[in-house]
Amino acid sequence: MVKKYPAIHHNLKGFMHGGDYNPDQWLRYPGILEEDYRLMKLAKCNTFSINIFSWSAIEPEEGTYHFEWLDKIMDDLSEQESHVILATPSGARPAWLSQKYPEVLRMESNRVRNLHGLRHNHCFTSPVYRDKTADLNRILAERYKNHPALIMWHVSNEYGGDCHCDLCQDAFRSWLKNKYQTLDELNHAWWTGFWSHTFTDWEQIESPAPHGEYQIHGHNLDWKRFVTDQTIDFYKNEIAPLREITPDIPVTTNFMGDYPKMGPYLGLNYDKFAKEVDVVTWDSYPAWHSNYQKTWELAADVGFVHDVFRSLKDGQPFLILESTPSLVNWHKVNKAKRPGMHLLSAMQSVAHGSDSILYFQWRKGRGASEKFHGAVVDHVGHEHTRVFREVTEVGHALEQIQEVAGASVEAEVAIIYDWENQWAIDDAQGLKNENKEYIKTCQQHYQAFWKKGIPVDIISMDKDLSKYKLVIAPMLYMVRPGVAERIEEFVANGGTYVATYWSGIVGENDLCFLGGFPGPLRNVLGVWAEEIDTLYETDFNEVQFTANGAEPATYSARDYCEVIHAESAEVLAEFKHDFYQGSPAVTKNSFGKGSAYYIASRNSPEFHDDFYRQLVDNLSIQTIIKGPIPENISVQKRSDGVHDYIFVMNFHDTNQTVDLEEGRPYINLLSNRDVSGRLNLGPYGVAVLKH
Ligand code: GLA
Ligand code: ZN
Repeated sequence: MVKKYPAIHHNLKGFMHGGDYNPDQWLRYPGILEEDYRLMKLAKCNTFSINIFSWSAIEPEEGTYHFEWLDKIMDDLSEQESHVILATPSGARPAWLSQKYPEVLRMESNRVRNLHGLRHNHCFTSPVYRDKTADLNRILAERYKNHPALIMWHVSNEYGGDCHCDLCQDAFRSWLKNKYQTLDELNHAWWTGFWSHTFTDWEQIESPAPHGEYQIHGHNLDWKRFVTDQTIDFYKNEIAPLREITPDIPVTTNFMGDYPKMGPYLGLNYDKFAKEVDVVTWDSYPAWHSNYQKTWELAADVGFVHDVFRSLKDGQPFLILESTPSLVNWHKVNKAKRPGMHLLSAMQSVAHGSDSILYFQWRKGRGASEKFHGAVVDHVGHEHTRVFREVTEVGHALEQIQEVAGASVEAEVAIIYDWENQWAIDDAQGLKNENKEYIKTCQQHYQAFWKKGIPVDIISMDKDLSKYKLVIAPMLYMVRPGVAERIEEFVANGGTYVATYWSGIVGENDLCFLGGFPGPLRNVLGVWAEEIDTLYETDFNEVQFTANGAEPATYSARDYCEVIHAESAEVLAEFKHDFYQGSPAVTKNSFGKGSAYYIASRNSPEFHDDFYRQLVDNLSIQTIIKGPIPENISVQKRSDGVHDYIFVMNFHDTNQTVDLEEGRPYINLLSNRDVSGRLNLGPYGVAVLKH
């Protein structure tokens, strides 16, 4: 629904700008803290996340607390009229805790327990760690519950990874008992008769291990599900005191991306986790200006990930909880964002639905591994740097577009991208073993809409489909119970559904469907997929549309070609080569009031551009602006029901022009100028047009 979402806390107006602030590392430098406040104002920052890694500063010894410094920072920030996102510090432990309670240390899959060190590596089952974190969170909540600066809880930091200790093994077995009830059921679901792996005692079951079991797909899948559930359970234990003591303060935990692939993090099923947070937040670190991808191509992939996170809570604005003002220190090559890219990438986040631009981090540390990671304030310590100026520019821009905060993104098109499907595809042995490119494939379909300026939601297979005109589910290898029925209902009611090769192969436990692929989707698609052919890099096939008068269009196909038979479906295109020459390459099945398409091969971008152009026309799907959008340009829109805000973004380092609809006047909120007809954008230029 087009609407303006309320701010997540009533004290918030407009966008949050600021980020991770680690004053506890600077307590010996009082002058620096004073200087920080001056600089924060200059940079137009209004929100800071503190206490993220401060456990040893607030509890240097067990039961000895030092909150004086945190009290002062909270008070000072409040005096500055800054908001505070207060973190629970479980992301890293003090050494005394690991020393006294070694069970909190994570055990790796090789069954070796970690020594104390690093971060993000606790056991998520350990009763001691659960008690210690919940106790500390209770103290924090009691202490700051009425603090005027507090607007949100930042729970832990980037939960991720797994632990294989005995406590976790026991918890895994209980989880399995709860799911399967009997070993017989588990043995069937995991197909353990294979290689004589049948379990006869629950105690025989362990987590997957590189020197043990790792080739039972149902087992791997259940472990990943367990890890998600156990992490959420740990998180729930952390937030219990926060909910109890500060019921009005929203709670989040920062989700991650996956780099350099530029997808969401794959270790946890965020679709499940998102239900437990009040607002989805993520940490976005794209590698701009690389030599392996054009800037606009990366921008489209980043847009896809923003749309994943926005769609997790059905369109509610998300927050960028971390991003870098300049560069990171952990990419392969840590290139600086070119002038203008900072504002552009920030505006892109907002265009896709973010209500914040927050950074890691405010001030560069003096030592340890992140001392060269980009920050707003550099080691030089003053504001006369390019990065500081560009951050200030973003602060200014966010003030200019303040009214956009809360506005929604409305999509008529959805692409299904599903974590469990990704896990199962990645684990399957076959096809191209090293990289089946599930997410890349979803992003390639997405690109066709990005180029046309058409908003897209990216949803799991469990989400409601009824609000969309077009639902695309590339490589829907796994089809969980009920999903095919919902797709059928969607199409029967007039929806358009697009499927590809390698769909409807396995059920929720990774057991193959019997009786013909695409399994439960066969009815709605009207095709039977007999075999799939995997091609070498140098191989290709061609997909030729059957002529209806004009010269038929031909597109190249790579990687995967499926040999399918049209049952009730009509054949739109055929393969041109090889033993399946003449067999269907694209089909359309009329089903109830709608249609279901099947694309039997991995096709070129030109195919997606043309194929979806036709569907967009046929289905009267709205484009944000009328005319064609030049390459390198992204057009996105947020609306609040009264106004539309159109973001036009140039992902190229040269001037570009975009033709807007004649006679439709806009105001560019960033420059305060009227625009109509032709919009000129400088290198990495951006305009936010209000209509
Ligand atoms: C992550 C962490 C931060 C910091 C940044 C560096 O997102 O949450 O603490 O390490 O990476 O990019
Ligand atoms: Zn453990």
